[in-house]
Amino acid sequence: MDCMDGMAQFPDKFFELAIVDPPYGIGADKKQNKAAMQRIKAEGKSKAGRGWKLYAETDWDNETPKAEYWQELFRVSKNQIVWGGNYFTDNLPPSMGWIMWDKGQRDFSLADGELAWTSFNKALRIFEMSRGKALAKNNEQGGRFHPTQKPVMLYSWILQNYAKEGDLILDTHFGSGSIALAVDKANRLDNMNLHLTACEIDKEYIDKAIKRISESIKQGTLSF
Ligand SMILES: C[S@@+](CC[C@H](N)C(=O)[O-])C[C@H]1O[C@@H](n2cnc3c(N)ncnc32)[C@H](O)[C@@H]1O
Repeated sequence: MDCMDGMAQFPDKFFELAIVDPPYGIGADKKQNKAAMQRIKAEGKSKAGRGWKLYAETDWDNETPKAEYWQELFRVSKNQIVWGGNYFTDNLPPSMGWIMWDKGQRDFSLADGELAWTSFNKALRIFEMSRGKALAKNNEQGGRFHPTQKPVMLYSWILQNYAKEGDLILDTHFGSGSIALAVDKANRLDNMNLHLTACEIDKEYIDKAIKRISESIKQGTLSF
């Protein structure tokens, strides 16, 4: 469902932690396909093209969430981690506790990393994981199907460092469901007893995410 309808169902400060990854308004859903096409044309579908796949055409990354989204997010959650925080500075106050995902490659055509704003009064932290490792099949249970799919290991690191045992967690833009696999891992291996509520507006993504999650759990492929 639309996350605005989803959040409307919850009372104030219901969730301890919201970990969200909203549209950045930069056409990221189309950029991936453009980069893949260039790579495939230049190098064929050989091993150089690994990880450069074409995704279903979508149209969700044309604009950033409106002011009402941020009001609702801050109403229903006590703490927040917002991927793409550098695109939402009109709606997010100054904060000390930013996170950087360092993709380990420099002077590449794509960004060296990604930034998340957080509400935590903590020092800035860096999670290092190379683009190659993030794309590797055996690190991404159920494979990749979403153009901006974040690695499960990134969410696992966030949960280890920012969530507490028993937290109710909200993800307003679920996408490929990577966060659910990380929550499952935290509950099984670290007994964190987390509970995740998530919204995703695109039915195709939800169907694929549910398939990915149930297959991964069935196969017990939580090999971190
Ligand atoms: C940046 S992606 C999230 C990627 C996700 N973190 C992952 O690891 O796969 C944003 C997602 O938000 C979804 N979306 C866009 N508008 C939405 C809305 N109003 N409510 C819920 N989901 C929405 C899009 O379909 C897209 O899958």
